[in-house]
Amino acid sequence: MARTRITTQVAIMGAGPAGLMLSHLLAKQGIESVVVEIRSRQAIEETVRAGILEHGTVNLLVDSGVSDRVLREGDRHDGIELRFNGESHRIDFKELVGESVWLYPQTDVFMDLAARREADGGDIRYGVTDTSVHELEGRPKLWFTDAEGQEFEVEADFLVGADGSRSHCRRQIPEAARTQYFHEYPFAWFGILAEAPRSADELIYANSEHGFALISQRTETVQRMYFQCDPAEDVADWDDERIWAEFRKRVNGNGFELKEGPVLEKVVLPFRSFVHAPMRHGKLFLAGDAAHTVPPTGAKGLNLAINDVRLLAEGFESFYGSRSSVLLDSYSDRTLERVWKAQHFSYWMTSMLHTLPGADDFSRARQLGELRSVVSSRHGQAYLAEAYTGWPGR
Ligand code: PHB
Repeated sequence: MARTRITTQVAIMGAGPAGLMLSHLLAKQGIESVVVEIRSRQAIEETVRAGILEHGTVNLLVDSGVSDRVLREGDRHDGIELRFNGESHRIDFKELVGESVWLYPQTDVFMDLAARREADGGDIRYGVTDTSVHELEGRPKLWFTDAEGQEFEVEADFLVGADGSRSHCRRQIPEAARTQYFHEYPFAWFGILAEAPRSADELIYANSEHGFALISQRTETVQRMYFQCDPAEDVADWDDERIWAEFRKRVNGNGFELKEGPVLEKVVLPFRSFVHAPMRHGKLFLAGDAAHTVPPTGAKGLNLAINDVRLLAEGFESFYGSRSSVLLDSYSDRTLERVWKAQHFSYWMTSMLHTLPGADDFSRARQLGELRSVVSSRHGQAYLAEAYTGWPGR
């Protein structure tokens, strides 16, 4: 059976927040796209992901007409708490840099974008198989097979790989045409969803001699929390009592007690820093996790992905509007500038807050010195606040 050909302007691999946001921004400029995704819409909706949005990400969601649900159902957070040596220190974002973040899970961002694209008649194919990309340096093609077994070829002016950290698109770029930067960490995060009331109004990032813990939130009755663990940890070895004992050791004390409850979900999350450069090869552009991964400590992953596609959409707009490739040509350099700032911030937060296996007394005491130098200085606090809420500009 012959492949059914579809012709479009921009073919997008991946219907996560990056792919859908790009497709949405392009549609607003009258630029056509087709989005192809191997996961089902339901599977994406059921995956628990991180939850912090920078103010710039929130503004783009609202101003581009995706949804204002983030403003109604998200929680604005004007600060976080850094907890170490049994004491909490608040970093007041609003007071320090005049900005806030929103706690609004990535899953909800996906649902808002998927609903908007659907309402606008966007061409999004979920649950496809056998995806592959061809002729990246000529006129690119994206092949896939739909749920009914029908084979398709999408022929486009440009191809965008927004296909996540295991990106198929990225792998098609010849080794000689790219550099990959890796950093591995000797730990991972054990993440849980628990049925319990909130323990605090804001997020708590806790450093302790027993390792890092993060107390985040989801709803009035469901909370999200993480603790630093060995990457080889098996969730099956952890019952509720053992999990809570670990959190108590790392977070409770000096009158503060976590609110506990039944653990609804547990998962070990890998932890690494990764950058693929440049983020363009011929007619292929990479966006989001396909090109970079950050450790979750700085809450930057989704925000970087959204920033990538904002720049990419501007590049396509200028190409189709005034036949100028200048913005597309500078896309990789411009977006990597912010990516490396976020890489540094995520690495810094991670190394400041986690305990290295086998750390000696010097490392521990030095780390407390570092934490104190941040919380006791307005400049130290302001650096953290500016990076966490999102640097101004792009
Ligand atoms: C989350 O709520 O899942 C979350 C929040 C902040 C982070 C990472 C994850 O830094």
